[in-house]
Amino acid sequence: MDAGGNPATGTGDGADRIRRVCIVGASGKLGQHLVRQALERGWEVVGVCRERSVPKLAEFADRITIVPGQTDDRAVIARAVAGCDGVLTVLVPWGVHGYSSGTAQAVLDHAEPHARLVFSCGWHITKDGQDTYSWLFRKTLRVTTVLARAVRAVDIDDQVEACRRIFASDRAWTVVRGSDLEEGESQGLPVWSRHVGDPVLASNLTRRTDFALFMLEALTDDTLVHEAPAIVGRLSASARTHTGVTSPR
Ligand SMILES: NC(=O)c1ccc[n+]([C@@H]2O[C@H](COP(=O)([O-])OP(=O)(O)OC[C@H]3O[C@@H](n4cnc5c(N)ncnc54)[C@H](OP(=O)(O)O)[C@@H]3O)[C@@H](O)[C@H]2O)c1
Repeated sequence: MDAGGNPATGTGDGADRIRRVCIVGASGKLGQHLVRQALERGWEVVGVCRERSVPKLAEFADRITIVPGQTDDRAVIARAVAGCDGVLTVLVPWGVHGYSSGTAQAVLDHAEPHARLVFSCGWHITKDGQDTYSWLFRKTLRVTTVLARAVRAVDIDDQVEACRRIFASDRAWTVVRGSDLEEGESQGLPVWSRHVGDPVLASNLTRRTDFALFMLEALTDDTLVHEAPAIVGRLSASARTHTGVTSPR
């Protein structure tokens, strides 16, 4: 295993620095887990989502501030991140007009100078080119990239460009790279590695709620600044085998 395994628990000094967070992409599946868990920590939450998706946040409506709009709209992001100590961004490569890179750039440009910035993406993103992927993973990614772009639905290369800009930034960022995801109860904080291909990640499965948990923890863990941790479920077979972990947290 070539990394630190787990971030700190969020109960130390770092946790005190966070009072208000912005969740960009709050209405999606991952976004709603982020909203719920941020509220449970007692943080103020500002959520950004498309106007048509505001009803998806109905259960939180009286407890959060919702800023409706496209997440690559710089004015929307500027308004939403004002006064926030942390910004959690669900990076999704929708369409073929730079949605992901536009979203990342707006957050990088407008977040408060002291804010911690945490972005989500998948294992296909590489920070230093040292990740090793299976033949099947590479083939599936190549086919998906070409087909999705051909129907002008999704531009995976734009998510790559978004992360290139984040990696080049001197902001206090963390890019959390998710494995395949599943629903289900929390198994505790995922295990992570700096590089895909590390045997600890072999199970390639994380609970979506734990993806959110890791992103929240990253907000308060300075050892994750300028890291792109690839995560896997704490109780997955590969994590158990290579870390000896057998219980949540
Ligand atoms: N799915 C996986 O297996 C997987 C694996 C590894 C990593 N990840 C990463 O996990 C994160 C969340 O992925 P997820 O699959 O769980 O999705 P998700 O949380 O459901 O998020 C999808 C997001 O995309 C938005 N969206 C959907 N259609 C859109 C459109 N046409 N234009 C603009 N925005 C649109 C949604 O907003 P609305 O609510 O407005 O529709 C929502 O915010 C992403 O960063 C992804 O790269 C996912």
